Amino acid sequence: MKQLTIPVQPAYDALLGEGLLAQAGALTAGAVGGRHVLIVTDDGVAPLYLEAARTSYAAAGFTVETFVFPHGESNKSLQTVEAVLLAADRAGITRTGLFAALGGGLVGDLTGLSASLYLRGIDFVQIPTTLLAMVDASVGGKTAVNLSSGKNLCGAFYQPRLVICDPAVLRTLSPELFAEGMAEVIKTGAICDEGLLSRIAYGDNLTGIIADCIRIKGEIVSQDEHDHGLRQLLNLGHTFGHALEKLNGYRIYHGEGVAVGMLIAAWAAEQHGLCEYGVYDELKAMLSMQHLPVTTPFTAGKVAENAMNDKKRRGDSLTLVLPSARGKSVLHPIRATELADFIACCDGTVTGL
Ligand code: GLY
Repeated sequence: MKQLTIPVQPAYDALLGEGLLAQAGALTAGAVGGRHVLIVTDDGVAPLYLEAARTSYAAAGFTVETFVFPHGESNKSLQTVEAVLLAADRAGITRTGLFAALGGGLVGDLTGLSASLYLRGIDFVQIPTTLLAMVDASVGGKTAVNLSSGKNLCGAFYQPRLVICDPAVLRTLSPELFAEGMAEVIKTGAICDEGLLSRIAYGDNLTGIIADCIRIKGEIVSQDEHDHGLRQLLNLGHTFGHALEKLNGYRIYHGEGVAVGMLIAAWAAEQHGLCEYGVYDELKAMLSMQHLPVTTPFTAGKVAENAMNDKKRRGDSLTLVLPSARGKSVLHPIRATELADFIACCDGTVTGL
């Protein structure tokens, strides 16, 4: 088992190893005081892993409650949060109780937000079941649900007490969900780790790659927990990626948007002399290897128009994340009104004409 400490205040561990789901109860008992848990999951994950989680917590002496909600982005809502809170209240969970998020990023985000609100905040643990959630969403304490006006607009920074990653559960992941996780893995390498990019390209051991991503995320988050500066690097590909998700009516995977979004950032950065030549080609090849999209039919103008409403926009300016060299990205503030011109060079390469 790998133990990676996320050095925020208070610090917590991300534990990584095959078979850890069966030990989730005992591992959680070592990290929290309470012994009354509400396991929150969705109806896609429940048939696969809820029984194993329930058995593990019961064997470790927990009183176990469960809450299963229908999967899908439309349920990442304040209504579902309220349903979680009511289930906890009905079950008599007190301030010493805890929530366990068993699922992908959506389940983790929603459960974390619910934990931050219930009785003004109780402990929660993350048990991610997707690659994307293991390498990104479950670590760092960003929690949120959607508002009718946009994705993740209602949330809080609220750190889990423990993250338990069992790569064995990834064997049931669809190829599309695996690929979207790989988009975030490639993103992590492109931000700050040339060695990780090489290990991904060589097809290195997945558990080691997940561990690298968690370590890197922990290092970044510990320096900027509340996303005022350095942490924004983790948004490489996301400003354009979110725009593409929106343009596609949220019918593409988040990771697919991020893949094309990274390429828009890389191509534009190279064309403006802000990035070493060759970064775009390498990222494109790596994303293609993972069967991720590398172009979009939408024009740069359309992408820019939709990116202007990014929730990270501050006043008139946006902070883009641009690759600057292999395994290195930088923050690049830009006026929202200059965005369309900045990425216009992508038309005909990454974006449509
Ligand atoms: N997923 C980006 C972050 O946690 O900041």
